Amino acid sequence: MTTPDPAHRELTVALLGGGTVGSQVARLLRESADDLAARAGAPLRLVGVGVRDTTKEREGIDSALLTDDLEALATSGVDVVVELMGGIEPARSLILAAMAAGSSIVTANKALLAEDGATLHAAAEKHGVDLYYEASVAGAIPLLRPLRESLAGDKVRRVLGIVNGTTNFILSAMDENGADYADVLAEAQALGYAEADPTADVEGYDAAAKAAILAGLAFHTRVRLEDVFREGITTVSAQDVAAAREMGFVIKLLAVAELSEDEKGLVVRVHPAMVPRTHPLAGVRGAFNAVFVEAESAGQVMFYGRGAGGAPTASAVLGDIVAVAQHRIAGSRGPAESTYAHLEVRPVGDAVTRYYVNLEVSDRPGVLAAVAQAFADNGVSIQNVRQDGHGDDAGLVVRTHTARDSDLAATIERLRSSDSVRRVVGVMRVEGEGER
Ligand code: NAP
Ligand code: HSE
Repeated sequence: MTTPDPAHRELTVALLGGGTVGSQVARLLRESADDLAARAGAPLRLVGVGVRDTTKEREGIDSALLTDDLEALATSGVDVVVELMGGIEPARSLILAAMAAGSSIVTANKALLAEDGATLHAAAEKHGVDLYYEASVAGAIPLLRPLRESLAGDKVRRVLGIVNGTTNFILSAMDENGADYADVLAEAQALGYAEADPTADVEGYDAAAKAAILAGLAFHTRVRLEDVFREGITTVSAQDVAAAREMGFVIKLLAVAELSEDEKGLVVRVHPAMVPRTHPLAGVRGAFNAVFVEAESAGQVMFYGRGAGGAPTASAVLGDIVAVAQHRIAGSRGPAESTYAHLEVRPVGDAVTRYYVNLEVSDRPGVLAAVAQAFADNGVSIQNVRQDGHGDDAGLVVRTHTARDSDLAATIERLRSSDSVRRVVGVMRVEGEGER
């Protein structure tokens, strides 16, 4: 633990990474130096920026500060090491070495936190330093500190959010233009919204890491990336989007973390879902993020804003730097990780939600009865059924009441092997419609 030092003359800061976010943090540290000093309680002096290529021109960063010796910078004993490199290694080793040298850490590295947050938190505890990571989930949106601090007196029941801007941009464009996934992805890449390799975003890995972090904070339980059920958006078709639209829904990639029915467990999942157009999350378009928290006393609370981008993400990083700086000056620390609840993280089969099922069937006597029987035999209650077309081209759209995910999966298995069903065209979870 650092000793109280009310006479702190200045606090030193080192950046590991000077890319999209790091360069904006460096710029703001310089441009807002007076305000930041007043808010933190002492001037914040940037002593170095660790990068791979020190010869590259970087807007916002004084080239004299650049170094490719990140280990020396991380272990130099500065007050705050800000990790903005991304990835697991060498970020993890550098953070651990920096903590061992007495530095507090600010990071935006969701992948590392979701994969090995336990090691980082244990090291922060051991060395008596802060580990802050507001920017790791939903960029600029103040979300983690409200969950950790403002809602600490409440009981969170559910967190439901759009935490990936790239996929929200793609799904919004598909909804607005009726375009195909592949065409919109190409446009998103051309506009710089999607990476050249979009896998982490479109396959849901980025959202799953964020879901793990959110779930851990909301439910005071350690949640790892591997605990999160994950489905991306690559199989969402223009037909799915059109069908959702026709029914008054929009498709979103959602991160959901919620208490199980017996309240002794937790299910954390990321997947495309239909959301009613009247739900506040339906209005979150383009690359924006929003997270809806349902807590016992507070009721529903929504957080909305920019989930990515250099300056927005730097805003959250700067907020953490100021908080950590204040603690250094006071000789204190922020709250440690809270995992006391130790809820069991359960498989997606235990999730309880509603479903949309689109079937291609033959239009002959007994087909509707056979389809309804498959749902009934698996304990899935049908909310409504719509039939289109006739002859060999008949389509059935079934919407269910709430059901267990494992029961719905068994129903789909049965439908796939049924003589009455020619093809299961689409199955999607429906969220945000009525109470569970
Ligand atoms: P970026 O633009 O790729 O920048 C990464 C920086 O780290 C670069 O300066 C790079 O050096 C340096 N770096 C990476 N690996 C290195 C290594 N092995 N040795 C030395 N330097 C290394 O990444 P970013 O978009 O700023 O993202 C940084 C972090 O913020 C990530 O954890 C990301 O998930 C998170 N985040 C980003 C956003 C966003 O909108 N970009 C939003 C929220 C969170 P060179 O420049 O020399 O290559
Ligand atoms: N790739 C992320 C997104 C931004 O599209 O939201 C960084 O978390």
